[in-house]
Amino acid sequence: MCGIIAAASTRNVGKLLVQGLHKMEYRGYDSAGIALHQENSIAHLRSVGKVQLLEEKMIEEKPKSKLGIAHTRWATHGEPSEANAHPHKSKESVYIVHNGIIENYVELKESLIAKGYDFTSQTDSELIAHLLDFFINKGNSMIEAMYLAKEKLDGAYAIAAIDLKDNSNLVVARNKSPLLIGLGTDEMFAASDPLAIAQLTNDFIFLEDGDVASISAEEYKIYDSSKAEVTRDVTHIDISSQATSKGDFRHFMEKEIYEQPEAVSSTIDGRIGGEDVLDNIFGLGSSDLFSKVERIQIVACGTSLHAGRVAANWFSSIAELPCQIDYASEYRYRNPHVDKNSLLITISQSGETADTLAALNYAREKDYLASLTICNVPTSSLARESDFSLFTNAGPEIGVASTKAFTTQLAGLMLLALSLAKSRNLNPLLRGRIIKALRLLPETIAEALLCKEKMIEIAPSIANKDNALFLGRGIFYPIAKEGALKLKEISYIHAEAYPAGELKHGPLALIDENMPVIALAPESEIAEKLISNLEEVKARGGTLYVFADPSVNMDVKAGHLIHMPKCDFFMTPIVYNIPLQILSYEVALLRGTDIDQPRNLAKSVTVE
Ligand code: M6R
Repeated sequence: MCGIIAAASTRNVGKLLVQGLHKMEYRGYDSAGIALHQENSIAHLRSVGKVQLLEEKMIEEKPKSKLGIAHTRWATHGEPSEANAHPHKSKESVYIVHNGIIENYVELKESLIAKGYDFTSQTDSELIAHLLDFFINKGNSMIEAMYLAKEKLDGAYAIAAIDLKDNSNLVVARNKSPLLIGLGTDEMFAASDPLAIAQLTNDFIFLEDGDVASISAEEYKIYDSSKAEVTRDVTHIDISSQATSKGDFRHFMEKEIYEQPEAVSSTIDGRIGGEDVLDNIFGLGSSDLFSKVERIQIVACGTSLHAGRVAANWFSSIAELPCQIDYASEYRYRNPHVDKNSLLITISQSGETADTLAALNYAREKDYLASLTICNVPTSSLARESDFSLFTNAGPEIGVASTKAFTTQLAGLMLLALSLAKSRNLNPLLRGRIIKALRLLPETIAEALLCKEKMIEIAPSIANKDNALFLGRGIFYPIAKEGALKLKEISYIHAEAYPAGELKHGPLALIDENMPVIALAPESEIAEKLISNLEEVKARGGTLYVFADPSVNMDVKAGHLIHMPKCDFFMTPIVYNIPLQILSYEVALLRGTDIDQPRNLAKSVTVE
């Protein structure tokens, strides 16, 4: 989704702003732009499509500047076009970039038009430039104008602005949309994503909602919502360039798939000991709190929600706790009843997903025992706003399609199921068995990754289809859903998932020779029933791709039976997901899609 980078420096900033935009490309965007202060004018360049095109314009025009703002836009209001791309300007003087959505933009736009302002875009963002210009022209400083503008704005925003009348300061503001300041030597930066400036500094200040800041090459000043100057902590983060480059892999998604054994080790390391999970790994006091929990509510989106669906099963079978799970975007609209001693769990790779954050904020008003997040980004809003947390330590995930984040979320959620069981004095033998299996998990995942050749062999027979059906039963239904999501988001093949028993209640009508049916058949008490369901598919000409325990043997006719590594049943959802990721990747590769940045999608969905 949209990305902001801004810089005030004693050197030229054009190139480093564009480099920062490149670093944010993974987030998903459709246009890019830059505004550079040049003493008597502001150079303003925008382009539709890749940042590369903006870079070409920069090479042609060679603007020199020590103060600038830049942006990648993911269209919300108005199509992807040069006119709608950021930065937006007011009267060649005030230039802004904005992430988020201004909810009352229609009425604000009308009042600004009435005051004589011309609008050249269809966006909700342009009015911010006009509002700032209006207040600056009334004699206010940029900071004062930003506060006055904020009083008018409803919605979520991160804003960076420059004014022709000031060649050394930029002003930023944050409300419900991430924004941080990066501290350099003789230069300062602002960005919506630390990765944008990770090559320039390791020292970051994460702004809080309501904050406004002025930034020059030499200093920064932060003011809170009451306009008082405040000090915010400096966080040192060393994001290695290795973590943010593809290395020898063709795509970040491919790299991230093959990083999974190591990523899962990082999730587990230091959190288990002997035959049990260690105490308080979710934060001081978490083990005590867990002994009081009587019910669980999970909210999350997309892949993270699928991890939650698997975990709901574990909470029930290992910790003997009932669990309700909701799409974060739906949760607060169903007027949820909260039972006493309920624990709220959010799951998110980015920790910035607007719907998940909104659900957490809504839940805060309810009577939850506490909130806990399973998250990959320790500096994210979700991490800061939750009472307890466990960071998955997967390292930056750049591919839009979530892979290692999902696998490590599952490992983290298993640690949570074990911790809840331990605090409730339940199932010590089972806990010991699962801990043993968790220790073996990185190795088992490495073994599952060896199915690559087989996936390359079967990918062509799926790549030439328009649809695919994924089947799983029980805890494998969410894995089937995740498999379908992966295939559709990166290959653009329409894919759906069903619990296999539901087939004959409707979807069986879809089966013919053009419908690949991908089924998950681990050894379980319902494996035989699943195999009967698959016989029904075979009898109707569907091509089967069955991922199964080595003990499962069936005649798949012209289809494929792929035997998976043997592992403890509790690890199987994690392990069976691996070939589905590789299959989607290989299919997408054959279809020539933009795998790391699939069309229309964004990595971090920061608007509701
Ligand atoms: O950062 P989050 O985990 O909160 O993101 C939630 C979803 O947007 C995300 O999982 C999405 O579904 C993935 N790109 C799918 O691969």
